Amino acid sequence: KKVVLAYSGGLDTSVIVRWLQDTYNCEVVTFTADIGQGEEVEPARAKAEALGVKEIYIEDLREEFVRDYVFPMFRANTIYEGEYLLGTSIARPLIAKRLVEIANETGADAISHGATGKGNDQVRFELGAYALKPGVKVIAPWREWDLNSREKLLAYCDERDIPVEKKKGKSPYSMDANLLHISYEGINLEDPWAEAEEDMWRWSVSPEAAPDKPTYVELTYKKGDIVAIDGQEMKPHVVLETLNKLAGENGIGRLDIVENRYVGMKSRGCYETPGGTIMLRAHRAIESITLDREVAHLKDSIMPRYAEVIYNGYWWSPEREALQALIDQTQEYVNGTVRLKLYKGNVDVAGRKSDDSLFDEKIATFEEDQGAYDQKDAEGFIKLNALRLRIAAGKGRKL
Ligand code: ARG
Ligand code: SIN
Repeated sequence: KKVVLAYSGGLDTSVIVRWLQDTYNCEVVTFTADIGQGEEVEPARAKAEALGVKEIYIEDLREEFVRDYVFPMFRANTIYEGEYLLGTSIARPLIAKRLVEIANETGADAISHGATGKGNDQVRFELGAYALKPGVKVIAPWREWDLNSREKLLAYCDERDIPVEKKKGKSPYSMDANLLHISYEGINLEDPWAEAEEDMWRWSVSPEAAPDKPTYVELTYKKGDIVAIDGQEMKPHVVLETLNKLAGENGIGRLDIVENRYVGMKSRGCYETPGGTIMLRAHRAIESITLDREVAHLKDSIMPRYAEVIYNGYWWSPEREALQALIDQTQEYVNGTVRLKLYKGNVDVAGRKSDDSLFDEKIATFEEDQGAYDQKDAEGFIKLNALRLRIAAGKGRKL
């Protein structure tokens, strides 16, 4: 019996390694990925070795994460419940996929993760795993063991000689980070009325402390994806890294919300999504000149559904693939450049241009028109659209 564990190298998942070995008497394979969380992943190797792990996977998935998950999601201008940019939600399907692939490579029959039984993450990992490997076994220690406090975890480490490193400046929040965002939950945030403390935020300065001078940046789009910043071509993950820096310095991308978890509870979370906040605004700007009206409104109408699909953990599902096919098809002409002004927490669109622009100055102008649009046509257009309203009013219907 063999199980592949999503292993961070931290205290919780180190305990899980030993607990799996003890409880299930099984071989543990660890999988640790760099998805831009900003922590070294290589130290996980020595920690896993010390726990007796023989098969250790450590991978840099930053490019794949942004290219195949973040960018496709941003083509839809995706936000959950009007605010959340899905930073954690979008990383889980990639982890789930790699867990399953590694299980297949190593002949493991089970996967395991360190998400609790109260959250969304367990659902996302497990729905993904079942969708990609229907017979897989799932072991979720947090739903099984009674080590439900930090004291109990430390006592367990003590008993079994699991090395615990005391990290200085470790934040007390429940956090999750990748190239798209960093999240904070728990502690004082559990009171929705309590304002987040300034020193909780790690990726951005406060808007108040941001420079008094704006930063301009130009983003070039090809088929709905950013391919260059200020004219310089970059790979997807470098685009996001660059935007994170620019936005963070200008106090952009902080969010404090109460959201509805799939399991039924409300939870309060704070998020920093600096680069993503820029990307959302800029993508809408380039679409505003390149998309047909009805296509734009159609994709807007399915966006909340698409967001829910991702939030709830159904990335690996036929409905997500169908929605994605529609969204991707709309991006054919979403090419061009957006110019942005970043200033004290704000992202303003300063300009947009495209060879595929549908914006026609000759038609839109308030100056004398050149025959492309005959104002007299508007009379019939309005009258016919008013027909049903006039019939109803004529029959005495009151509004
Ligand atoms: N509430 C957010 C979500 O469901 C963030 C979850 C953060 N996960 C974590 N393991 N700390 O997507
Ligand atoms: C967890 O419960 O493991 C984190 C929060 C979440 O998954 O929603």
